[in-house]
Amino acid sequence: MAQTIAVLDFGSQYTQIIARRIRECSVFSKIYHYSTPAETLKAEGVVGIVLSGGPSSVFSKKAPMPDPKVFELGIPVLGICYGIQLMGHLLGGEVAKGERREYGNGTLTIQKPGRLFAKLPKKLKVWNSHGDKVIALPPGFEAIGTTENSPFAAIEDRKRRFFGIQFHPEVFHSERGIDVIKNFLVGVCEASQDWTTEDFIEKSTEEIRRVVGKSRVLLGLSGGVDSSVAAALIHKAIGRQLTCVFVDNGLLRKGEREAVVSLYERNFKIDLRVVDASQLFLRRLKGVSEPEQKRKIIGNTFVEVFEKSLRQVGAAEFLAQGTLYPDVIESVAIGGNPAALIKSHHNVGGLPAKMKLKLLEPLRELFKDEVRAVGSALGLPREVVWRQPFPGPGLGVRVVGEITKDRLEVLRSADAIVQEEMMSTGWYWKVWQSFAVFLPVKSVGVIGDERNYADVIALRIVESKDAMTADWTKLPYEIVQTISSRITNEVRGVSRVVMDVSSKPPATIEWE
Ligand code: XMP
Repeated sequence: MAQTIAVLDFGSQYTQIIARRIRECSVFSKIYHYSTPAETLKAEGVVGIVLSGGPSSVFSKKAPMPDPKVFELGIPVLGICYGIQLMGHLLGGEVAKGERREYGNGTLTIQKPGRLFAKLPKKLKVWNSHGDKVIALPPGFEAIGTTENSPFAAIEDRKRRFFGIQFHPEVFHSERGIDVIKNFLVGVCEASQDWTTEDFIEKSTEEIRRVVGKSRVLLGLSGGVDSSVAAALIHKAIGRQLTCVFVDNGLLRKGEREAVVSLYERNFKIDLRVVDASQLFLRRLKGVSEPEQKRKIIGNTFVEVFEKSLRQVGAAEFLAQGTLYPDVIESVAIGGNPAALIKSHHNVGGLPAKMKLKLLEPLRELFKDEVRAVGSALGLPREVVWRQPFPGPGLGVRVVGEITKDRLEVLRSADAIVQEEMMSTGWYWKVWQSFAVFLPVKSVGVIGDERNYADVIALRIVESKDAMTADWTKLPYEIVQTISSRITNEVRGVSRVVMDVSSKPPATIEWE
């Protein structure tokens, strides 16, 4: 096992970012509930502990408190924001209730670089967001850095290797924040930086072989990043003991099915079963135009078809899924922490238990950027590893209103043009999503001397970091023009192209 740094989660919206920054330093990190017993951390071989920030005040009745024994393990501790206040409060110092929140950039003046601030400039711009602050040091501590608002903005107990910092080194606004984290990991905890992509692939393929033995594994391949990387990784471990099932629901993009077959079957030599259920999906969707009902039909039909095709593939012991770390972290639900809203997510809910399959989730410890690195290292092409998100219900939520074969055909052709132009100009890689939407609105146009009374295509191109919020992309007009004129000239059944210039919120990214 890689050496682990434990991040105790006190409900900060930045907890996952702390864990990711640690991994960017090639050190494995894991998020733990704030109340995790010290014994558990010790048993798991943790080599350093980070106390996250959080929206609470240590004075509140419901303030989340760690097991006091975490300070008796002999393991280094770094308290960030709420974490430093906990240290002040629990280790015999004094914390004052803040009258107003200090929020934004400040300047940290380093007094004693020591190990935490080794090789850093004397002054750093740092990001603050806190109410309370430490006003008297606990025994054994000294101040190592100050800000305009606090003589105890960074503190250290050298003997016990405890550090507290008021600012947030994990956010980009904090200059050299990553170096502060790295100093803690390497300089203080002496972590060996053994968390690398290559190491992960080696250890996890060994683990997959050990767990699976001679059994068979099934995996539902969607073409998305997570299931694709899971397939490549499991295939590397157990080869033809893995069977992938790809369901064509009739709502795929142009050429999508062929691309999946060509990559996995021909290139990777994976045992891939393609199930063409497009007729069934379209039949069930006939006459339905209400978005939620469409989604429900598509979801239920998928589970039914997938389950049936798994049975046809034959007996297996495992069902593999591309579950990622953010899906399994149980974020601490403390008021003010948006991370607490993150849904618990299951790709095919209920199915494994019903079919008596064991789950195999080889990516469940990885963040998305790590999954991409693993995919690249396994030889998956950029088009797969950096593919834009595509919704489970596919084009079903991009044909507004009733879904028909003809409408899907029009949308597919228009969408292919959007993808081609985005790719050839390089914009595909710069935006979050870029796609076409079919609007069943008849409008008048002319082709030659003929009146063309046909439907409308909307362009939806957005920038986003996490899909929670999004901005419409100010794509250069020349590209918009090329896309528009190609669609109106090349796609029969479209009379005009419009651009969606709404941000999320209040609009959503998809139209349905
Ligand atoms: P919205 O439209 O809610 O979309 O702003 C946010 C992100 O989620 C994707 N999306 C889905 N993904 N199943 C999925 O797997 C769905 O039903 C679904 N609906 C939306 C959407 O493409 C965007 O990236």
